[in-house]
Amino acid sequence: MTDDNRTPQPFEHGHLNSARIYDYLLSGKDNREIDRDMGDKLLSHAPELKTLAWFCRSFMLKAVQLAADAGIRQFIDLGSGIPNSPNVHEVAQEIDPSSRVVYVDYDPVVHTHCDALLAAKADGVTALLGDIRHPHKILDELKHRTLIDFNEPVAVSLIGVMHYVMEFEDPAGIIAAFRDEMASGSYLALTHGSLDSYPEILQVLTATKGTSAQVEFRTAAQTEALFAGFELFEPGVVPVQEWLRPDLPSTRMVMLAGIGRKGK
Ligand SMILES: C[S@@+](CC[C@H](N)C(=O)[O-])C[C@H]1O[C@@H](n2cnc3c(N)ncnc32)[C@H](O)[C@@H]1O
Repeated sequence: MTDDNRTPQPFEHGHLNSARIYDYLLSGKDNREIDRDMGDKLLSHAPELKTLAWFCRSFMLKAVQLAADAGIRQFIDLGSGIPNSPNVHEVAQEIDPSSRVVYVDYDPVVHTHCDALLAAKADGVTALLGDIRHPHKILDELKHRTLIDFNEPVAVSLIGVMHYVMEFEDPAGIIAAFRDEMASGSYLALTHGSLDSYPEILQVLTATKGTSAQVEFRTAAQTEALFAGFELFEPGVVPVQEWLRPDLPSTRMVMLAGIGRKGK
């Protein structure tokens, strides 16, 4: 934390950056030495972390597929990260080329990449610079620019993002703000770092304190509580592997995943 008890912004110089650490784990090129050092520290405790990052991407694509199969044609990917393929719009638009996707991230570097690599090249794709800790600002822009029609169901994904929201920043309130605008039949998919991860991993992560990559991992019960107002699909909020295949190995960093549908 900084003196004013605020999570630093990703563009603050010399800080670890969650998008770039993740990009490094996904073998991308948009990262700096400080981010690679943290990635390597984490990898030394959990060498399977790169695989886990890919499990999370696969889960996200599965959630998009599920929502698209249910007829959803508009998607908001919050904390979208540095673009990696395949991405939300590729899955959604394969099912229906008219599907609309908005990628939102608060990191200006991520935003520039999203704009150049995704929004400029694909119809129906928009990159928005926005901080989920100010959900109403994002919602106002989505409505004002008619990017999303909230009278129709929408799928919202928060993949590996909510654990960057500290408890005092009201994670449940952020999701509730989106939920209250979402039509019934809308989907919410998220992954979240679990306190069931190996203690050594949680210890390494304390080095992120005071940077924009600071994390607050939560229990399965706390993560499930983020789905208030949504009916959870089976198998519920469980380690991400369980959403993919029964034979995948467990990982020392545990990433919880769940998908919910907003009822009437
Ligand atoms: C670990 S990466 C995950 C990227 C992507 N969702 C994926 O799964 O490949 C986390 C992303 O969340 C973004 N992020 C973190 N806090 C955020 C906030 N308050 N508002 C918007 N984006 C945020 C970071 O900039 C980063 O790009």
